[in-house]
Amino acid sequence: MSANQVQPKLIIHGGAGGHIRSEKGEAVVRQALHSVVEEVYDLLAYGASATDAVILGCRLLENQPIFNAGTGSVLQSDGQIRMSAGLMDGSKQRFSGIINVSRVRHPIELAKFLQGENDRVLSDYGAFELLRELHVPKYDPLVEIRLQEWMQERNENFDKKMAGVVAEQALIHEPRKGTIGVVALDKNGKITAGTSTGGKGLERIGRVSDSAMPAGNYADASAGVSCTGIGEEIMEECLAAKIVIRVTDGMSLADAMEKSMSESRSRNRDLGAIAIAADGTISWGKTSEVILAAYHDGKQIGDTLNWNNQEELIGYQ
Ligand code: GLY
Repeated sequence: MSANQVQPKLIIHGGAGGHIRSEKGEAVVRQALHSVVEEVYDLLAYGASATDAVILGCRLLENQPIFNAGTGSVLQSDGQIRMSAGLMDGSKQRFSGIINVSRVRHPIELAKFLQGENDRVLSDYGAFELLRELHVPKYDPLVEIRLQEWMQERNENFDKKMAGVVAEQALIHEPRKGTIGVVALDKNGKITAGTSTGGKGLERIGRVSDSAMPAGNYADASAGVSCTGIGEEIMEECLAAKIVIRVTDGMSLADAMEKSMSESRSRNRDLGAIAIAADGTISWGKTSEVILAAYHDGKQIGDTLNWNNQEELIGYQ
């Protein structure tokens, strides 16, 4: 590493929700998260940009059928899958996103394409037109367990608030809320954040997720944040942008995360966030029972799967 280069850092998440039910469940989620961290950190260590690392991380997590993004996405109330993804390059302070897109393997790739466009957030019909324009092959992200989950909910008249955080009933106690996200700091000190989701699941047609909004995914030169949880509550907290702006205004990332989570807790929000600051601090926070996150601090991989102390300092370098 040359003198003006920094140690790359990486954190990813696979959603937030209820406690993991069993050691086996924890091992499955840990293995899935750690394998992504390993592959993406290798790329960062090799000198890749934060944006390239985030795109790779989101693609790998979208490929994992247990998480609610890309393959394994939840079904909406009409039985259709509509996915959303947001990408923010902190060094350019540029946001792009795709909202409620169907029949595509990697929604994050569309957000990536839109980084270079004047019109950077597209939804529904526009998203479909973009797929056609780019000749993106059709792909069905449905997995059997999500279909079963939807059929059961249909029998119960869609009483549940959200669908399962992971597509495996055995893994999570009272499964809810899923999304994936990646935040990276590259060797040149640049930060990017990316988030991708199948949404809340069982929602009304046309409902918009936080993931392709600055409330759910935000970065600038000082920090980057990706959120998970109930989109409406993340929007009402304007969570990602709030944490980042607190850091930009001089607060440490740990304090910004703690303050934002404590405000969210006081309003009974159900959410979580992962973050990295330009000084190399990695942080995470949650009001949900667990956040499924893993990180690489330059020396080793760690995760939050056993982490349950709300008073613990949620930020370190
Ligand atoms: N955070 C994902 C959603 O509510 O759509």
